[in-house]
Amino acid sequence: MKFAIITCSDTRTLETDSAGAALEELITQAGWTCASRVVIADDRAIIAQAIVEACDNIQADVVLTCGGTGLSPRDVTPEATQDACERMVPGIAEGLRAYSLKITDRAMLSRAVCMQRGTSLVINFPGSEKAARENWEAVADVLEHAVHMMAGGGH
Ligand code: MTE
Repeated sequence: MKFAIITCSDTRTLETDSAGAALEELITQAGWTCASRVVIADDRAIIAQAIVEACDNIQADVVLTCGGTGLSPRDVTPEATQDACERMVPGIAEGLRAYSLKITDRAMLSRAVCMQRGTSLVINFPGSEKAARENWEAVADVLEHAVHMMAGGGH
């Protein structure tokens, strides 16, 4: 599977983005490919554009966004995801929160969504490295089946 990582942060750089770097390592360790990793501002239009680029040009099977899912005024990643994508996959976002709630009550502060754009799956992860690792643990095992189904494959 081919992945793209988009970290949404007004303060981080590619060098200080430890959450994105950890996700890239986890993807590679699982035997998959990370085709692109970028850090962009918490800007709705810029995030939506980066998601479109990852899905349509990079043709990532799975796009992981990182950060910008909370309640602060600059947290706009779920809105940008909805601007760029077509179809909700609520079960994945529910699954991430259910798994995370066993670790911290603050998981209920995540507004993360998961959606499809064409044959790409876009999943919002929280921005801290710890939270990103926990969300990866929650979802990694279902991704191959999800990608298979998006490509028109059955069970
Ligand atoms: N999920 C897990 N698994 N672990 C965490 O530590 N932190 C929560 C939540 N989800 C957390 C988590 C917190 S404190 C917030 S504010 C929201 O994710 C949103 O994080 P974000 O704004 O970095 O996207």
